[in-house]
Amino acid sequence: MTTPARVLVAEELRYFLDGTTVPEDIDPTLLGAGDPVPEGPYVGLLPLLVRTVGAEEMDRLPQLRVIANYGVGYDNVDLAAARARGIGVANTPGALTMATAEMTWALILAAARRLPQGERLARSGTWAGWHPTQLLGMGLDGRTLGVVGAGRIGTEVGLRAPAFDMGVLYWSRGRNRVLERRAGARRVELDELLAVADVVSLHVALTPETTGLIDAAAMEAMKPGAILVNTARGAVVDEAALVSALASGRLRAAALDVYYDEPRIPAALRGLDNVVLMPHLGSATERARTGMWEIAWENLLRGVRLQRLRDPVTERGPGTAEAGEGA
Ligand code: DGY
Repeated sequence: MTTPARVLVAEELRYFLDGTTVPEDIDPTLLGAGDPVPEGPYVGLLPLLVRTVGAEEMDRLPQLRVIANYGVGYDNVDLAAARARGIGVANTPGALTMATAEMTWALILAAARRLPQGERLARSGTWAGWHPTQLLGMGLDGRTLGVVGAGRIGTEVGLRAPAFDMGVLYWSRGRNRVLERRAGARRVELDELLAVADVVSLHVALTPETTGLIDAAAMEAMKPGAILVNTARGAVVDEAALVSALASGRLRAAALDVYYDEPRIPAALRGLDNVVLMPHLGSATERARTGMWEIAWENLLRGVRLQRLRDPVTERGPGTAEAGEGA
């Protein structure tokens, strides 16, 4: 019998690995959360999206064949370094689309209707009773949702807008006929989307082009009193500029699931009342996280066995039909 292929699997995924029948040709080792990637004859790596896998890490694993990222985002992996070494990279598209779209809507509603402020007031013991001008929010009906990045998640977010009687504008690399047909969406340039949308929701992948996409100028171009929602990647937004826009009231509110330097959330952001903050929970459902495991594991096995990856990604984007997917 040949020696089983050694693979490294993020320790945080033990729960899923324990429930998986590991084939005889695979020999997994758990990679501790705080541990650096070790040197060794590993041929597969299944990391979390919070682990940086760059040239340095790859050079410690000279026999590596595949990086099967646990996440749809893969900005933690240096794709050029992987390509230069002939290492395949894969992600987990699809499994978390609905969960992340749901979270986006939870955040849109929370920001528009001031859920956290109301909750804080109700818990405080200081609520003096119903008042006609207490915590007035933004009604969504008749408003416009701007979807920035219309991949899988952006599409599902946009498709839910008609249920709230909202119109949809989207900005994307290509036309999205599903969104146009089913949500009456219109594809526009980013400037127009920012100027017109009452709620701007971000769903782009993090790339050099989208880093800092929503900077001070973009926020200045947004409709006064609009809401910004980010369930994609923190670095798409300039956090310092966002703090200013929220503090000045230029933006009514923001709702964030992701941050520039996770898990650090700037104190200035935490100090603001008109921002809803979540700790990167977009895909946090049992179903989504299990689905992500199944896909990542399959990609790992295929890569180790030198088979075609289920979900290959390259510098040009995912190898699947749709691109432009964020978190
Ligand atoms: C991803 O998979 O990229 C998400 O951010 C996880 O929630």
